[in-house]
Amino acid sequence: MKINFLKWKCAAALGMLLCMTEGSFAQTKSQPYEGVPGWTESQDKRMEWFREARFGLFIHWGLYSAAGGSFEGKQYPQHYAEWIQTWGKIPSKQYAAVLKPKFTLRSFEPKAWARLAKKAGMKYMVLTSRHHEGFSLFNSQQPYAVKNDITGSANLSPKGRDLYKEIMSAFRQEGLKVGAYYSLLDWQHPDSYEAFNLNPNPDNHKPDHNRYKEYLYGQIKELAQNYGPLDMLWPDFSSKQHQGEAWGTKRILTDLIKWQPNIIINNRFWEGLENKNGDIGTPEKYIPPTGLPGMDWEVSHTMNESYGYSAHDQNWKSFPKIMQLFVETVSKGGNFLLNVGPDGDGAIPAPAVEIMERIGDWMQVNSEAIYGTTASPFQALDWGYCTQKEGKLYLHVFDRPAGGSIDLPIKNKVLAAYGLAAPKTRLKVETKAGKPQIPVDAFTIESGPKVIVVEIQGKPLVEQNLTQTQADGRIIMNANNANLQEAKGLKIIGANTHDPNRPNALGQWKDPNDRIYWDIKIQKPGKYRVLINYLPNAKHTGTLLLSALGQKFPFVFGVENGSGFKDAELGTLEVSQQVIGEPSTRMNLQATEIKGDALPEIASITLIPIKE
Ligand code: GLC
Repeated sequence: MKINFLKWKCAAALGMLLCMTEGSFAQTKSQPYEGVPGWTESQDKRMEWFREARFGLFIHWGLYSAAGGSFEGKQYPQHYAEWIQTWGKIPSKQYAAVLKPKFTLRSFEPKAWARLAKKAGMKYMVLTSRHHEGFSLFNSQQPYAVKNDITGSANLSPKGRDLYKEIMSAFRQEGLKVGAYYSLLDWQHPDSYEAFNLNPNPDNHKPDHNRYKEYLYGQIKELAQNYGPLDMLWPDFSSKQHQGEAWGTKRILTDLIKWQPNIIINNRFWEGLENKNGDIGTPEKYIPPTGLPGMDWEVSHTMNESYGYSAHDQNWKSFPKIMQLFVETVSKGGNFLLNVGPDGDGAIPAPAVEIMERIGDWMQVNSEAIYGTTASPFQALDWGYCTQKEGKLYLHVFDRPAGGSIDLPIKNKVLAAYGLAAPKTRLKVETKAGKPQIPVDAFTIESGPKVIVVEIQGKPLVEQNLTQTQADGRIIMNANNANLQEAKGLKIIGANTHDPNRPNALGQWKDPNDRIYWDIKIQKPGKYRVLINYLPNAKHTGTLLLSALGQKFPFVFGVENGSGFKDAELGTLEVSQQVIGEPSTRMNLQATEIKGDALPEIASITLIPIKE
């Protein structure tokens, strides 16, 4: 089951009443901008650069960066180090007194940040103008920001400087678009919805939310009017209780489009990461399994676990892993906003710099396969991902197929094929069973995926989605390459913000008329073990029937609870020599009985050759 984002936040905040109710991802599309005129009409024009860019930098920098995951000697193991004030239940006054002196700027070089981003091939940047702690990098002139009873000032920039301005100008000078992340939550303001969750309230002050709305409006006005062009506003975040008008969104949106007619806004003035309001959806640390059809979106992801700097979070993803997340996102039609968390001195951690430099080296050769591309025409590919432009398919190869060539499931005539690394060297493309065979030279994934351009005549005519035999002889039928029929409820459920490594699985199978099939290409006759991989759940039981080649494999889900996906045997499939000559074999999966709300989630069915 998808872990609910807000529910998690509630748990994480240790019952601090940050969230009043459960949230959900659903949101209606009726008035994507609260009905404010000017937005919908200009959307395509405003979104032009974003659709071309595909790749941006997220910067989380604030007082939490000076804590780096520890406060007064205590280390907080939680991810999301920018939440340390909440993890430690630290009153704002104490938080500021300890951390402001540690926010030294000793190594702060915004121009170097901007050069690094440009070198990595990023086309835009989003900076935390202020995060939930309520301290801003910009020099806000709002009365509360200048002087407040709790911490004296909510401004972080030293006298005479404006760090936000310095960073935004540096990036603009390098030709990147710039966006402001702006927290709607505020853990210090006495009139915010979270007022006094962390701070003492000696005078029994009754928060006046209208005053807080004025503050938000005033600060957003400063961001939009005082710093030149603002290409994106990235508010964060809403709950079912506090969304839209709770922030005074109508007034903000009415004026914002006048102040910055080209601005893009994300969907977080409203509740849910995939809600269809604003200009873009914002999946956080996960890639929606089938993209977010019908809307623009951007995945924000981290190189280690936290957005804000954490000295003890050394769980850095490898460069190939980051490339996989990046390319998978783009191949599904999204933008990739990759985060860095500079420390309190202003230094970007060395592993992050190294990853960005390596992405830059890859982009130098391959950026054509990223910028301005649209989603893959294919459902799932065994060897990697695909992006496209008119007349061109870009094959991003992560795993070189065992036979050394890709059996590309299209019916088009191939006009030319070449690697982006050596565009002048044409590849020899043969046709087998009507499909082009694209040769792939050996390469090391340590330098990133290999990109091959296939120029085709006309629009891609995709062949049926055929599941191929792996190099070791196994055939894996998973959620990504499944064909869903009827599918009233049945869908692919993927990883989520707080369980990013969860496999994609077939879930919400509530209706016995929903069906699944795979067309597979078996290459060797003989006996195959049939294994199912599923997520046991005592509330979800029932019976499945897998049928293929006239053989039937019923499976009863027992009443069991487990902590993760597990394998079970379905039986032995016998494959005759005759079958091998067939272009494909259909494997049908039916739900013969569904007890409880749905069947357990199914990640895959695998055929494993039995050696005799
Ligand atoms: C979340 C978090 C936050 C992080 C952000 C990034 O809402 O609260 O810490 O800045 O989203 O997507």
